[in-house]
Amino acid sequence: MASASATLLKSSPVLDKCEWVKGQTLRQPLVRCNPSSASALTIKAASYADELVKTAKTVASPGRGILAMDESNATCGKRLASIGLENTEANRQAYRTLLVTVPGLGEYISGAILFEETLYQSTVDGRKIVDVLVDQNIVPGIKVDKGLVPLAGSNDESWCQGLDGLASRSAAYYQQGARFAKWRTVVSIPNGPSALAVKEAAWGLARYAAISQENGLVPIVEPEILLDGEHGIDRTFEVAQKVWSEVFFYLAENNVLLEGILLKPSMVTPGAESKDKATPLQVADYTLKLLHRRIPPAVPGIMFLSGGQSEVEATLNLNAMNQSPNPWHVSFSYARALQNTCLKTWGGLPENVKAAQDALLFRAKSNSLAQLGKYTAEGESEEATRGMFVKGYSY
Ligand code: 13P
Repeated sequence: MASASATLLKSSPVLDKCEWVKGQTLRQPLVRCNPSSASALTIKAASYADELVKTAKTVASPGRGILAMDESNATCGKRLASIGLENTEANRQAYRTLLVTVPGLGEYISGAILFEETLYQSTVDGRKIVDVLVDQNIVPGIKVDKGLVPLAGSNDESWCQGLDGLASRSAAYYQQGARFAKWRTVVSIPNGPSALAVKEAAWGLARYAAISQENGLVPIVEPEILLDGEHGIDRTFEVAQKVWSEVFFYLAENNVLLEGILLKPSMVTPGAESKDKATPLQVADYTLKLLHRRIPPAVPGIMFLSGGQSEVEATLNLNAMNQSPNPWHVSFSYARALQNTCLKTWGGLPENVKAAQDALLFRAKSNSLAQLGKYTAEGESEEATRGMFVKGYSY
């Protein structure tokens, strides 16, 4: 095992093992900085370096993005309730089966984020969901955070739980077939954000990222800046700059390999309750300016969340950001903005499965075109223009 990881590390183009420990006081059994000695190469995170880079590149491949279908059982229940279905395991299984079995989905979707239940779930006809995804050329991912709770000492803000036991859970998820992970924490503009909340969010993400990499999972780093609020776009930009500078500070402090992560930012927009509205061009200008200022080009992929935008809006904004080449793959990791029309079309009826799958494929293809900067909004339905903002949204 030690020599296998040594081989991986030696061939890694991205990680210099001496740089890894420079100036640090890491305890044994980590690294002695002696390039000629194979026994020196025992950093656990580094043993996955090549694989992490490869996974991140696969997910960030041209014309493809992520299907976020990692709704917790409670959130999935809200989705099912919106079409009059009960929140039973059988209904969740039926819906998730519909999503992952869309013929040809892998042409536009490179990764799917699953809730823990789904990682261990089978389709209605008994195939493991993970196997179905792999057959579709889609990398399975897993939501690993344990949700938001109030942050004591803050201005009614929250922090994200889930670090306790994360290493062993991540190792088990890898065994089960997951190759990337997601941790969503939030920052609220109307509630501050306080320096404490931003620091806690950034630190939690960085610890999670380091633990994920040590266990072979590419971490998706998601500090969602909530759409809630009446503020204008400049205020969102200001907060986003602060948040991302802290996130990268702590990622570096935690020795996270940047070539082996993916980001999931919010787009820079005015608050959902603001009197101002922004065009896709304005959203793209602000968001790209933010990314250029804060995100090193070593990061392979930026996979945006939709955050309550309508399906069409999220696709138009992504398309606007891909009108000229970017240093990173700029793509999507949408839940609501991929699933909305699909869910409504299904309505829980077996006879609608085909139409619902067509709706998902249409959205996936539209976003694929937007990733390539070639989306035209042709053939969009009324439903797809409907916003999905919910105040205080949780996932
Ligand atoms: P939305 O695209 O619905 O905002 O979902 C974001 C998310 O974090 C799902 O993984």
